[in-house]
Amino acid sequence: MKIFLDTANLESIRTFNDMGLLDGITTNPSLMSKEGGNPKDAMEEITKIIKGDVSLEVVSTEYSGMMEEGKRLRKYGDNVVVKVPMTPDGLKACKSLSSEGIPVNVTLIFSPNQALLAAKSGARYVSPFIGRLDDIGQDGMHLIKEIKEIFSNYNFGTKILVASIRHPVHVVEAAKIGADVVTLPPAVLNKMLSHPLTKIGLENFLADWEKLKAGNPDIKI
Ligand code: G3P
Repeated sequence: MKIFLDTANLESIRTFNDMGLLDGITTNPSLMSKEGGNPKDAMEEITKIIKGDVSLEVVSTEYSGMMEEGKRLRKYGDNVVVKVPMTPDGLKACKSLSSEGIPVNVTLIFSPNQALLAAKSGARYVSPFIGRLDDIGQDGMHLIKEIKEIFSNYNFGTKILVASIRHPVHVVEAAKIGADVVTLPPAVLNKMLSHPLTKIGLENFLADWEKLKAGNPDIKI
């Protein structure tokens, strides 16, 4: 399963990329707005740092605007995937951009039928938002199971990119289902890294080493 970071925060992107954890990045207008500044600078920098797919989202809601923005976004790099919303115009833009060789991520997917239609339109990725379904009392992960079954039945090449992930258990569940990608807020990736027993174990190792050193001050590793 691939791991993308769901952020426009350059510091987080650099930190996790240096650990070799990132296969790609997803952004959206809300994440850009959270960072402030000029989003162009962020888009330029992110596409330079990350070799894998970087999803950059259009803000037009009609077809021609999406096409113009999609082509402009693609100029930031060959690794840019144009993100369009799951609307009739979004699917039309998905079809056209994909036919021109520009990969598309269809976002704001909340039902299996929306995922099926986005795959039919040629999307490289569909982005089902599981946390937002959980928020309204539905089972977001059930949607991932349904999409996985449908895509497997018909051998769709479209990848399932699980989005709106809120905690590490979501990641384990998505991996067990066989989702292709999870896109993680930096806070969730940080939580995945740590375990209280790792912390305690390391503290004990270091304390024992200090005891050994007390009798042999010159030892070094
Ligand atoms: O990638 C989509 C994601 O950013 C949405 O997450 O937490 O706003 O539902 P959230």
